[in-house]
Amino acid sequence: MKINVNGQEHEVDVAADMPLLWVLRDELNIKGPKFGCGIAQCRACTVHLNGQPIPSCSFPISAVGGAEITTIEGLGKPDAMSLVQQAWVDHQVAQCGYCQPGQIMSASALLNKNSNPSDEEIDTAMSANLCRCGTYPRIRAAVKSAAKNIREIELTPAIESEIDNQSEVSS
Ligand code: FES
Ligand code: FES
Repeated sequence: MKINVNGQEHEVDVAADMPLLWVLRDELNIKGPKFGCGIAQCRACTVHLNGQPIPSCSFPISAVGGAEITTIEGLGKPDAMSLVQQAWVDHQVAQCGYCQPGQIMSASALLNKNSNPSDEEIDTAMSANLCRCGTYPRIRAAVKSAAKNIREIELTPAIESEIDNQSEVSS
């Protein structure tokens, strides 16, 4: 069957009930999503399915269909990180790091639909992602920092357009 991951189509020959996480890691060698519990209780395996965060350990490949899968590898690269990834580095969030791909995927899904989340909205969006190293305060700080940077980028075109309008009026 075919599967679209990070904008690339792959053909995989696997059982229909194989969890997506197994397909990603063992068939496609995409190791960002991590195996933690295997029963949708820790979210170390979080990926996006059409932009929605899902636990890939508990999602059969047959249910993916033509949906777009995004893993942390699809968010950015070390030399061109996404704003969320950059915020994680800036706040030195990771300790052992094992849970962090899943944390970043959940945070990215939140900020893609809401670039100004309240503390409560952040806590709700991140509540399923467990971290045995207890990095929760840094995660929240990084989410807020990324949100601020995203809002600034969203505002830039509006500000530039306002400046253009003003210069047209005054010329
Ligand atoms: S490994 Fe998927 S939720 Fe824990
Ligand atoms: S950083 Fe170690 S489990 Fe989260």
